[in-house]
Amino acid sequence: MDLIQVIYSSRPFGFDQGVLNAILVQSRRNNAAFGITGALICRADLYLQLLEGPPAAVDAAYQRIAVDSRHADVTLHVRKTVTERLFGAWAMRDDPARSWLWTQGEIADGALSRASDADIVAVFTRLAAEAAAG
Ligand SMILES: Cc1cc2nc3c(=O)[nH]c(=O)nc-3n(C[C@H](O)[C@H](O)[C@H](O)COP(=O)(O)O)c2cc1C
Repeated sequence: MDLIQVIYSSRPFGFDQGVLNAILVQSRRNNAAFGITGALICRADLYLQLLEGPPAAVDAAYQRIAVDSRHADVTLHVRKTVTERLFGAWAMRDDPARSWLWTQGEIADGALSRASDADIVAVFTRLAAEAAAG
């Protein structure tokens, strides 16, 4: 089966636990129905999300997400074919930003726009490895 991986970043608008919970409930319901899995890294200054699954389903989800008013500056970093899922066990994993992620200061200073696609994919590879290790 064809699989793609999409990674985008955005700036949360009106971020709090209630907003995040609502996003996660909606994401998990939809993603389970469409064969999408992934992870959402969340912090007051940043959403960094990986979506993986059938191309048409992932593209359609991304189109809906891109116009969602709960965030701004939605920027697509990666859209590529992959052979395996990184987060196959999660309809949408929710991850508070780890200490090894770019700091808020670095993000404000444009770290993501300077990062290569490989740097950004590496964030999720590391997260998946940590998740697998428990
Ligand atoms: C940061 C963020 C991440 C989201 N992630 C997903 C997702 O993984 N899957 C999804 O279907 N919707 C996601 N959404 C919600 C979509 O933008 C949209 O509201 C939803 O898909 C509409 O679904 P509904 O018509 O079933 O309510 C996300 C929204 C935000 C702000």
